[in-house]
Amino acid sequence: MSTANHMAERIIVALDYPDAERVERLLKQLAGIPCWMKVGMELFYAAGPRFVARLKEAGYRVFLDLKMHDIPNTVKGGAASITRLGVDMFNVHAAGGRAMMEAAREGVEQGMDGRGGEPKPLLIGVTQLTSTDRRMLNDEIGIPGTVEEAVLRYAKLAKEAGLAGVVASALEVVAIKERCGDGFVTVTPGIRPAGAAIGDQSRVMTPKEAFAQGTDFIVVGRPVTAAPDPRQALERIIESVTA
Ligand code: C5P
Repeated sequence: MSTANHMAERIIVALDYPDAERVERLLKQLAGIPCWMKVGMELFYAAGPRFVARLKEAGYRVFLDLKMHDIPNTVKGGAASITRLGVDMFNVHAAGGRAMMEAAREGVEQGMDGRGGEPKPLLIGVTQLTSTDRRMLNDEIGIPGTVEEAVLRYAKLAKEAGLAGVVASALEVVAIKERCGDGFVTVTPGIRPAGAAIGDQSRVMTPKEAFAQGTDFIVVGRPVTAAPDPRQALERIIESVTA
């Protein structure tokens, strides 16, 4: 496999669209690039499990980004249902606490029942959203300290609860790997190629910088999906991170 394909397999394209038709157009444009696809709440609430199945049939690895946060029993049931969809990665908010994250793990085990030799989905904790800045963290949410401190606390808790990794800003990857180990997966959104619009993200890095921090996966949404030529935009990102 070429280095370019190897890097493409670490790039997750965020399919933030209101309906499946719009995504079909993008899938045609990106055909043949072995990136992951991320289905978030906008698309999942509109197109549902059927669209996840469609992506799996097309051969994509799928990150179902529904960021569950509820009482442990409800999250356990949700995790079991998500696991039965055959996704490759999904997430829960680390802010839901250890018992909730452990319940999510139990849900995965329950959902794997009868799925033969299929691989388990990676269960990932959401730390602090990359749109959060310190003022919002301290004044609105009421968590003292820096964003980095909050992220590291959540990452440690996720690790202790047995999760496979966390979603965090690329700015925190080095510190997370230091505390939780290299094998603890990091998934980093807030990625902007040089010169791209930042939008509502506040802590951003270029794809190359993010991989240089040691992240496992980058999540890229609008820089690809809102580009005049999404294929060219994604290919440029892949080129920029391929030595
Ligand atoms: O368009 P953009 O590249 O900003 O998209 C980033 C994607 O990553 C969005 O789908 C967003 O929901 C998701 N995400 C995030 N911050 C997190 C977790 C997920 O931006 N902490």
